[in-house]
Amino acid sequence: MKRASVIAKAIAAGFMAVALSSAVAQQGTTRAAQPAPSAQPGYAHRYASLCASCHGANGRSDMAGTPVLAGQHSFYAITQLFLFREGRRDNPAMTAVAKTMTDADLRGFSDYIATLPAVPAPPAATPPDAARMTRGQALAQEHRCVICHGADLSGGQQVPRIGQQHEDYLQLTLHGFRTGKRPGYTQAMGEAVSRIAPEDLDTLAYYVARFPAAPAKPPPPK
Ligand code: HEC
Ligand code: HEC
Repeated sequence: MKRASVIAKAIAAGFMAVALSSAVAQQGTTRAAQPAPSAQPGYAHRYASLCASCHGANGRSDMAGTPVLAGQHSFYAITQLFLFREGRRDNPAMTAVAKTMTDADLRGFSDYIATLPAVPAPPAATPPDAARMTRGQALAQEHRCVICHGADLSGGQQVPRIGQQHEDYLQLTLHGFRTGKRPGYTQAMGEAVSRIAPEDLDTLAYYVARFPAAPAKPPPPK
């Protein structure tokens, strides 16, 4: 089980080494593999003027189909911005934004995103459907989502935080991985969802979006 994530990480590391070598070369600096989140000067302002209208000032968007960026990891964000810029991940709005980015911008925006703390979803108007949450939790175990994304679905490095992401976006993107409309930068997600029935993907999206409200483990017997 560990093996899958180790392989995914190795592939991702190889890909990112290529993707980032030009960025690093251009900046003329070498970076530690995991810098502590800190924003470069100017990017808070650029985020506020270029990105916040869709993604929200604090990174929790409330626009349909638009992902929450708050709590996302720099390594994951830079990979996705790179994929948009190279036309390997397609979305008219984001492709247009990313096309104008230099390598330094990919790094600058991603580092800034990593400084935005995770923001909890606003309380839902109706309590989650318990049966659907239980089913979603079982699917997430069965299909090993938790092995790569973590038991708390917060991800890490190139694996995205997914807990409390918007349901419509999760649905879109999970179906996108399944049909190949959204190619990942590794095979990880394509393989993870290839054998999952479309209605089960919807249940996973439902569950992941409401994650903290998941029925907790039964309390230990007193
Ligand atoms: C017009 C609205 C819009 C603007 C402006 C915009 N985005 Fe996006 N962004 C989107 C949408 C929609 C998606 C999801 C695309 C998809 O479904 O593939 C997205 C996806 C992303 C992702 C991938 C998130 C993930 O979870 O995979 C990142 C990172 C991102 N945007 C960063 C930015 C940055 C940085 C800016 C500003 C420079 C920006 N966006 C400006 C609409 C926008
Ligand atoms: C082998 C590791 C692995 C497994 C198993 C896995 N994922 Fe992922 N997941 C990833 C990686 C890596 C990405 C980044 C996508 C890319 O390649 O661009 C990702 C991306 C995603 C995204 C897109 C997030 C965003 O913000 O756009 C969602 C949603 C997601 N995974 C949900 C799931 C679900 C649900 C499962 C279980 C059915 C699952 N993942 C299983 C590694 C994994």
